[in-house]
Amino acid sequence: MEKQEIRTFGRRHGKKLSARKERLIEKVLPAISPVYTEKNDILEIGFGAGEHMRELAHDFPDQIIIGAEPFVNGVAALLSAICDEQDNILPEYKKLRIWPDDVRLLFDKTRFNFSQIWILHPDPWPKARHEKRRLLNADFLNLLGQNLSSNGKIIIGTDHWEYYDWILDQVKNTNLKTCDSQHETIQTRYQQKNMAHTSEPKYIILGLQ
Ligand SMILES: C[S@@+](CC[C@H](N)C(=O)[O-])C[C@H]1O[C@@H](n2cnc3c(N)ncnc32)[C@H](O)[C@@H]1O
Repeated sequence: MEKQEIRTFGRRHGKKLSARKERLIEKVLPAISPVYTEKNDILEIGFGAGEHMRELAHDFPDQIIIGAEPFVNGVAALLSAICDEQDNILPEYKKLRIWPDDVRLLFDKTRFNFSQIWILHPDPWPKARHEKRRLLNADFLNLLGQNLSSNGKIIIGTDHWEYYDWILDQVKNTNLKTCDSQHETIQTRYQQKNMAHTSEPKYIILGLQ
């Protein structure tokens, strides 16, 4: 981020981590930092506790999957789920990479060529005075477009229907197009809470063509 960006996430720290999780953050996290020279295929932004990251690892075992999440307790929850009791990463999760920070900082160093970019339940910031904190504005969507392969897809899911309409309005000011393609997905932890009290999430799938 060259200029100081408006913060799009809430807290970075929750309740105190267990000794095991502290150890995983200290020892395992640095070893699975994204490597810019790797062929990075899939990105998930704001993975929360990481249940969808694990799903992606099972669905796409040959692909490098980067997850970005600045909430330390979420990062620790994912690390705890992908490591055994000796702190070794389980074989099926060897291709996961974690960026424990604002995703916009990931794009500062290099350009990617992702085939999929997932954003499930981005923070809706429902109060009018917080609208500027919404991550999926036109500038950010264009940035994602610059890091997407020519036939890649951006998959956005939200149960906040007003945010859904707002995102579609933002898309009009980008070079992205909405697509009809379908993507299977799971019910994430945030979706289970359904704080917007809607009947189901809505999805937006975007591509460059
Ligand atoms: C409402 S939660 C949803 C978490 C998860 N996707 C789920 O469905 O359970 C939104 C997440 O996006 C993360 N987030 C917000 N802004 C972000 C940013 N700029 N970069 C990366 N993650 C971000 C927050 O920390 C938070 O964990």
